[in-house]
Amino acid sequence: MSKYITTPIYYVNGEAHIGHAYTTFIADTMTRYEKLKGENTFFLTGTDEHGQKIEESAQKSGKPTQEFADEISATFKKLWDEFEISYDKFIKTTDEDHKRGVQKAFEVMYAKGDIYKDFYEGHYCVSCETFFPETQLIDGEFCPDCGRSTTIVKEESYFFRLSKYEDALLKHYADNPDFILPRSRANEVINFVKGGLRDLSVTRTSFTWGVKMPESLNDDKHVMYVWLDALLNYITALGYGKDDANMSYWPASTQFVGKDILRFHAIYWPAFLMSLDLELPKTIGAHGWWTRDGEKMSKSKGNVISPKEVSDAYGVENLRYFMLREVPFGQDGDFSQRAFIDRINSELSNDLGNLLNRIIGMSGKYSDYEIDSVDVEKFHKKEIDAMNIVLDSLDAYMENLQTHRYLEELWKLFAIGNKAIEEHAPWVKMKEGKKDEALATVALVANILAKASIMLHPVMPKTTNIVADALNFSIDNSSYKELVLDKKLLKLFNIKVVPPLFPRVEEPLMPEAPAAEPNKPQNEVAMTKEVPKEEDNLIEIGQFFETSLKVGTIVEAEEVPKSKKLLKLQVDLGEGKNRQVVAGIKEFYSAESLLNTQVCVVANLKPAKLMGMMSEGMLLAAKDEDGLCLVRPEKPKKAGTPIG
Ligand code: MSP
Repeated sequence: MSKYITTPIYYVNGEAHIGHAYTTFIADTMTRYEKLKGENTFFLTGTDEHGQKIEESAQKSGKPTQEFADEISATFKKLWDEFEISYDKFIKTTDEDHKRGVQKAFEVMYAKGDIYKDFYEGHYCVSCETFFPETQLIDGEFCPDCGRSTTIVKEESYFFRLSKYEDALLKHYADNPDFILPRSRANEVINFVKGGLRDLSVTRTSFTWGVKMPESLNDDKHVMYVWLDALLNYITALGYGKDDANMSYWPASTQFVGKDILRFHAIYWPAFLMSLDLELPKTIGAHGWWTRDGEKMSKSKGNVISPKEVSDAYGVENLRYFMLREVPFGQDGDFSQRAFIDRINSELSNDLGNLLNRIIGMSGKYSDYEIDSVDVEKFHKKEIDAMNIVLDSLDAYMENLQTHRYLEELWKLFAIGNKAIEEHAPWVKMKEGKKDEALATVALVANILAKASIMLHPVMPKTTNIVADALNFSIDNSSYKELVLDKKLLKLFNIKVVPPLFPRVEEPLMPEAPAAEPNKPQNEVAMTKEVPKEEDNLIEIGQFFETSLKVGTIVEAEEVPKSKKLLKLQVDLGEGKNRQVVAGIKEFYSAESLLNTQVCVVANLKPAKLMGMMSEGMLLAAKDEDGLCLVRPEKPKKAGTPIG
């Protein structure tokens, strides 16, 4: 039985960030683990290059779309190569073979009657070029993203009969409890399917940057929906659609995805495969999201972590270890340099690094770097038993994708080694003339290190090769079988001196994230944002009067639940109907204290949505180190009085 492991294919509208690196690290670790076990394993990654968003990003960059996609795709490939990611194929969805495979799949689904042509009717926001379901609209009409009015648009589309597969999907989830891991994530998928599946629009006529329709359909108005195109990469990479396709690696053993794209992989993807009469993947592994110092990462906050920057500062293998150890698979994780440094110093440097140094030191001192294992069983039966229990427990953790538990357990081996040294104090035994006992302890720990480095190899391939080199053996499938499965001891060690593997990190090696700014949604409060120096930014008086400023009276005020910053206000601007303004001033004003007070309001801002609520204006405020205060008329004025 072979193994096939995949990452999602990454959109080429921006360069790789730490979240992409995480998925790639887990998939790479899993691949290396399977290969260590002797499994014939194929590892696929690549880039997702079609769709309107990519087309738009390319337009903004002023480059032809293909050139733009190629360039960004190359940055992913280069990074994975620098990180020595062991992929077997890097697919691009603009590859001709892929496009042909997608067309072939479309034809098969169409011939089967699973794809039909109809009209798509929905609420369309012209500005965002997106359809929204009615439930997401504000007041049944406005775009939830930009607040503009939506229109009902009817567009011709091909549909995939997703609804037909509802029961088959539910049966598959029930019969295969490991189809979605962690299992805790399965419920949300099951409930979604139980809620009823609507047929899926799988073509678009509103843009052209996509896989064209198969010639047999003779309909070049349409291009394929990007998710149909993208999901099929997992089989086109194996040759699907070619006459001599050898899909011997299919079905995939583990397909890693982030939790945000689980539905596509756990609902659409298996339904497409059922339609193509192909087996379903064994497991879809959905991981959580990474934040930075507790904050969501975003380009606008300037706090996105570049994996390259981290690896330049701390080393890519330390980063792999940290990410896989820090977070239970499936849960969200936080990247903080403090936590990273703590793990480097305590786990890598103290537990693992020191143990190796001690073995190098003691073996050199007591027996000129040559140690044999003849007396280990005699003096260390207890430790060997404990070590074997740990070794036996590891496989289940890795196969269940629980990398943090795997590493946590693995670290018990170092604890056993360190404890044996403390308890048996070889230096005392040497003084007492019990050299065989002293050397048995050193040999025990050398064996522990050898076995631990084999099991740590998939996570830290280079570092563990250095450990193996120091202990004079190689990490491969045969040493795995001998030392881990068959529990043999290495007979003889010719220890080599290697420099310390994990120098302690005393202070952060990268600049800290920009200070977390208070949530500053568009319509929150004016004047809190940094403005260019006045002399650089002179405006005409007419420009000033483009802003309509008015006196408003706050007639209702309430806290927004679950928000630290927002208050929801109803403001009378003398218009007959009050305006709702959502303002980020909760830290500075209580709702009651604002009632019946007056404020200055920017009255002609486009409405925006904050935490699901429309905001139809902005309050003027001034903010410095001491906090924020609202700008108010000096004397009461009629609500709606213009300012200026
Ligand atoms: N192109 C689609 C996938 C198609 S697969 C047939 C896509 N691309 S993506 O580039 O936006 O995201 C790729 C992966 O990165 C997703 O699994 C997503 O969950 C993951 N991450 C994006 N940001 C992330 C974090 N901040 N943290 C962890 N993973 C994150 O979706």
